[in-house]
Amino acid sequence: MKALAFVVIFALFHLISSDSEDVRRLVEERDLLREQVKSLRDEIKLHSSSRDESCDYLQNRIDDLQRTVKAKRDEKDTLKIGIETAKKEMTSLAKCKADKDSTGKYHKSQIRFQGKYHFPVKPIKRAKMEDPETLKSLQEGLPIVITGSNLTSSALRWNIEFLGKELKNQFVRIFVSSNRQFRYHNMKFETTAAYYEWQPPFRIHEGLFQEFIEMTNDFKKADNGSRAYFQYLINELNLTESMDDDFNEFNWNWIHDTVLPATKWGQLKHNLLLVGMNDVSTPVHFDGMENLFSMIYGHKRCILFDPSQYKGLYPFPIHHPHDRQSQVDFDNPNFEMFPRFREVHGYDTILGPGEVLYIPSHWWHYIESERDSMTVSLNFWFYPAWHEKDDQENWKDLVPDAVDQLLVKQEVETLIAESFHPTKVKDVLKEILDKRFDFIEAKRPEKDTVDGE
Ligand code: FUM
Ligand code: FE
Repeated sequence: MKALAFVVIFALFHLISSDSEDVRRLVEERDLLREQVKSLRDEIKLHSSSRDESCDYLQNRIDDLQRTVKAKRDEKDTLKIGIETAKKEMTSLAKCKADKDSTGKYHKSQIRFQGKYHFPVKPIKRAKMEDPETLKSLQEGLPIVITGSNLTSSALRWNIEFLGKELKNQFVRIFVSSNRQFRYHNMKFETTAAYYEWQPPFRIHEGLFQEFIEMTNDFKKADNGSRAYFQYLINELNLTESMDDDFNEFNWNWIHDTVLPATKWGQLKHNLLLVGMNDVSTPVHFDGMENLFSMIYGHKRCILFDPSQYKGLYPFPIHHPHDRQSQVDFDNPNFEMFPRFREVHGYDTILGPGEVLYIPSHWWHYIESERDSMTVSLNFWFYPAWHEKDDQENWKDLVPDAVDQLLVKQEVETLIAESFHPTKVKDVLKEILDKRFDFIEAKRPEKDTVDGE
């Protein structure tokens, strides 16, 4: 019995101890699995977060790359345009070289000017001095380029070197500007200038002619936009004997025997000698004189507008120092302020040595010097035919209609300015107009309207 009990106890013990073995093993296995699950979870977590970062990173990289590709594409386009421009420049330079004439000068079509303008232009007619067309244009008051003229051929040696030697020690006035424009101003109106808060656009330097030449060289070297222009009445200069001889050899016979009798112009008033640095411009304006504008050295581009273009060119008031000058800046036109400037149309030409441009009185003109050379030119200013009214029967017939209208506008403005005050012209004109003429507008006959309006 005892033995049986022992066997049973032993068996039970064995059973219990082998059970607890299993339980422990199972617990251990469960813990191990738990560990593995945890580490897998961590791994999954790790992987999923790094995947998001990688995605963002990759997206950013793609964006960057796309931007770089676009920039490269733009760069390629710019380069393409650059290459096209360079190719064109090279072709034009090659043509330019090929077009140099026997004297080593460029052909006219190759002469380069800085200005770029929007308005249409027609070429000014050209004719030889002895061609009947020449005298016809002078008589009709229409511009013409007189080619191969011998008006100032004795002065064709007046290049910069020659003038530098001849006029070297003369004490003169030199125009100095911080840009290429030399808008003339009349200091006669200096007192009224204050009303307009006006400042001279260029300064006047007094010094030797030699200084002018040095100045042009210094400005060219500095390349800071500054320019110098020498403009002097011939009779105020002390001409050397050789210059005086050249002057006397001008073709005065043609003037006195042919031009003056045919045109009925008055006498020569002045000769103005202009020696310009490269790339200077005289802004658009009109003069009250007939002008035979003779080119001696270098080239100038001349753009003319007939007097009927007055409305599109917006002249300064009569008592302003810039009287007879347009307010429009050709290099940077303000179309908002001067909208009718969009509609102007002119005539142009490039004038070279030995050529004379007739600029009729009261015709607007803009004159620009070539970029690659200094220039020398000489104005011959004559009083217009109607100036000597008393000597002319029917003098009114001599005044072209558009000039007549311009003269009337000038007279009205002068009268008001002088009777009231220069700053009162606008108010007085408004007063004259105010509600007094509106009924005419209202009753305008049908047939006055333009077709299609
Ligand atoms: O610059 C010029 O040659 C201007 C001449 C003029 O206005 O007569
Ligand atoms: Fe002028």
